[in-house]
Amino acid sequence: MAFSIDQFRLDGKVAVVTGAGGRGNSIGRAYALGLGKAGASVVVADLNAPGAQSVCDEILSAGGKAIAVGVDITKPDSVKNMANAARDAFGGVDILVNNAALMAELGYLPAVDIPLDQWNRILDVNLTGALNCAQAIVPLMRQRGGGKIVNQVSGGAFPAMSVYGISKLALVGLTTTLARQLGREKINVNAIAPGNTMSDAGKSLTPDESPFVKLLEATVAMRVRGQPDELVGTLLLLCSSAGDWITGQVMHVDGGWVLRP
Ligand SMILES: NC(=O)c1ccc[n+]([C@@H]2O[C@H](COP(=O)([O-])OP(=O)(O)OC[C@H]3O[C@@H](n4cnc5c(N)ncnc54)[C@H](O)[C@@H]3O)[C@@H](O)[C@H]2O)c1
Repeated sequence: MAFSIDQFRLDGKVAVVTGAGGRGNSIGRAYALGLGKAGASVVVADLNAPGAQSVCDEILSAGGKAIAVGVDITKPDSVKNMANAARDAFGGVDILVNNAALMAELGYLPAVDIPLDQWNRILDVNLTGALNCAQAIVPLMRQRGGGKIVNQVSGGAFPAMSVYGISKLALVGLTTTLARQLGREKINVNAIAPGNTMSDAGKSLTPDESPFVKLLEATVAMRVRGQPDELVGTLLLLCSSAGDWITGQVMHVDGGWVLRP
């Protein structure tokens, strides 16, 4: 089939985006708006239900289709309700974006000192939450004859040097495992690893004068910081038929941070 630019369109597709409503300027919001602009019906899901409603309203005002759902991705029953809401509103699900995570709220505690309850909580949200969502939504994708899963990992996992990084590297493992196990069912599973992104959460973590930003400035090949919107093109590639032959990959969208020595 000859390539057509329309392969990037998502008309008639249904996308669930977790972590899409928590803060004003978030990556999940940019993802939800981008999927809506590409034509998808969007399920805007977040622990923060009013925040999800506000992003949903933005999509609706732009002429798109969306619903808002309050969800706790660590709770299988809550995730099941999210999947049911998507099915009831739009008839099924084609795209799952596992974007919700704990990041800015995590203090830096060395692994050797971190209390086990904090360790478990981080893995519960950042890793098991994505598995819960896949377990609830893959059956709906099977009914549609395929689907796309995109897991939001992080440049901070290459290599992992924090418990947060460990959780994101583990999510890379879930990505490749699901890719291998679901490929024959036409379900693509990939990951996006953003660099330092100026969402409200990202900004709060890395003030201009912080040692981390100085380190980035010394080592990153291109511009060291990006905006949430700069991740959306990669998301659309991975969620659309333009990316049908891509699976099990981590797309680094980070100005070349991953090349660091
Ligand atoms: N901003 C960055 O620099 C950066 C870099 C690399 C990766 N990331 C990743 O990108 C994603 C979005 O980051 P962001 O900067 O927009 O941060 P954010 O804090 O604004 O987004 C995370 C969202 O997840 C939601 N959430 C947390 N726990 C949840 C739960 N149990 N159930 C449902 N929702 C829950 C929060 O309410 C929030 O809306 C995260 O996965 C983050 O780890 C961010």
